[in-house]
Amino acid sequence: MTDGSHATDGQPRCRINDSDVALEADEPLLFTLRNRLGLTAVRFGCGLEQCGACMVLIDGEARHSCALPASALDGRTVVTPEAIAGDPIGAALLSAFELEQAGQCGYCLAGIMMSAFALLTREINPSRARIIEVLDGHLCRCGAHIPILRAVERAAGMLGKPGA
Ligand code: FES
Ligand code: FES
Repeated sequence: MTDGSHATDGQPRCRINDSDVALEADEPLLFTLRNRLGLTAVRFGCGLEQCGACMVLIDGEARHSCALPASALDGRTVVTPEAIAGDPIGAALLSAFELEQAGQCGYCLAGIMMSAFALLTREINPSRARIIEVLDGHLCRCGAHIPILRAVERAAGMLGKPGA
């Protein structure tokens, strides 16, 4: 999908949560989101694409934002955790994580939800093995893995029920 804004003056531009944003040339996307746009649900963990705390959707794919330079984003569409609540999949995930009391400190959860969101967008009833595969790159220092897995399964179940 390439329906984002494009540079006309050499400065990269993209769509972030339905806003047209001019990007600083080599600034990693994570810093643009947190420091310039105030979108602080996306977290800084390692800065090395190793923990998943900074996950966002780029053209619908879950991607790390901590080391991704703006120059790679011209014309693309970025969705942050702030924007998923109004979507049925995002709403189901938020509800399921709360119902399962998934997570302790919560630092990892926004990134995990973005990967789960991308998964549930494509697969309506993923197996636990598939969920583990998709979330494999996410670190949770609190060790809340099991309730997190249950929450993603619960969200899938909620989405599969008519009228849920
Ligand atoms: S902060 Fe981006 S993967 Fe850790
Ligand atoms: S809930 Fe604390 S890092 Fe995952």
